[in-house]
Amino acid sequence: MTRIFLAICVVSSFLFSLACVQKGANSTTTSSGDTIKVGVYGDLTGQTSSFGQSTKNGIQLAVDEINAAGGVNGKKIELVVEDDQGRPEQAKTVVSKLVNQDKVVAVLGEVASTNSLAAAPVAQEAKVPMISPSSTNPKVTEVGDYISRVCFIDPFQGSTMAKFAATTLKAKTAAILGDVNSDYSKGLTQFFEEEFTKQGGKVLAKEAYTQSDPDFKGQLTKIRDLKPDVLYIPGYYGQVGIIAKQARELGMEMPLLGGDGWDSPELWKLGGDSLKNSYISNHYSADNPAPEIQNFVKNYKAKFNVVPDSLAALAYDAAKVLADALKRAGGTDSVKLKDAINSTKNFAGVTGTITLDDKRNAVKPAVVLSLDPAGSKFTFKETIYPEGMTPATNTATAANSNTTANAANTTANTASNSAANSTNTANATK
Ligand code: PHE
Repeated sequence: MTRIFLAICVVSSFLFSLACVQKGANSTTTSSGDTIKVGVYGDLTGQTSSFGQSTKNGIQLAVDEINAAGGVNGKKIELVVEDDQGRPEQAKTVVSKLVNQDKVVAVLGEVASTNSLAAAPVAQEAKVPMISPSSTNPKVTEVGDYISRVCFIDPFQGSTMAKFAATTLKAKTAAILGDVNSDYSKGLTQFFEEEFTKQGGKVLAKEAYTQSDPDFKGQLTKIRDLKPDVLYIPGYYGQVGIIAKQARELGMEMPLLGGDGWDSPELWKLGGDSLKNSYISNHYSADNPAPEIQNFVKNYKAKFNVVPDSLAALAYDAAKVLADALKRAGGTDSVKLKDAINSTKNFAGVTGTITLDDKRNAVKPAVVLSLDPAGSKFTFKETIYPEGMTPATNTATAANSNTTANAANTTANTASNSAANSTNTANATK
């Protein structure tokens, strides 16, 4: 009996070790050429985990589509996903692992600008292209020529909201409550103030908070006493939801304004009804009836059972831009891939047409959305175009959007954007 048992043990451990060797052999083959390894890093478990989850999902959808259509240059894309818990030091650590250990050909991430800023020097140093889907602080791509993004930047986003406040809401005075440890928040504070002042408005107070603050009533009381027409809160959803609630509890009824950082399904749970009379600038609107957008919304919902937020849409675009560049580069050579990414032009994304400028930033319009807590949704208000970009050949769009563009300056680059946004505008005027 013992002998039989021993024999079984010997045979099974032999089989087991064989299986291990087999597995090892498989994964070596995999990394040595059957797939193209792409790194993804983001906050999957920390304070801004909704950002990382949406980003991961958006990238997954894009890669599934790419692989189902045969992959890129005859190879499938394989994702290596890392959680940085929303911490800058951890972002740096996981990107080091992705480039040095996993030998990924490119990195997609991060969302929060401070985390992208912490990790970008690692990618630049290793000469591994990094595309941030959604970090909007200008400094991110200034790290070097291997760092790019598929979203607009904060001088544009901040001025968009300042123009909306001054023009559409007719605000004369504003207060700002920002996150003192976030590059994103500090940038938007500066850019909003510059434009609001240019528009003839006055910023009465700038107050600060940190992400670990449990309470914001001290800062809010100071602001309340100054009676600003609007309160700009350039932060992330986790704090914004609570700030909105506490502001309303203190009897502050003015419009609350924010940026893309508010965009999360979690916001409604935290802020509820207090989010009424609020507006944000953002990258896209899931309401946009353009068929390419509705198709994306439908496919994303089918897979993840939720409407894609702008993080998911930008992440989807970042992965598709990378795949397009891999094709144009004809392989994974890092210099060629970097050059191909940086020369991306007129790429039809779900967040608009993507063309990278000489600083590797995408030049795209922004949308202003109003918040509807009853329906837990963001509703399209208007599209704002960057200077020099024409809204449309379509006069309805031009008339309805608060644009600084030169209508005579129509380029192919903006054509599909205009189409998407003119339907967007049409939607809003229904
Ligand atoms: N733009 C933000 C940043 O740079 C990140 C963000 C993008 C958050 C889009 C939500 C939606 O920090």
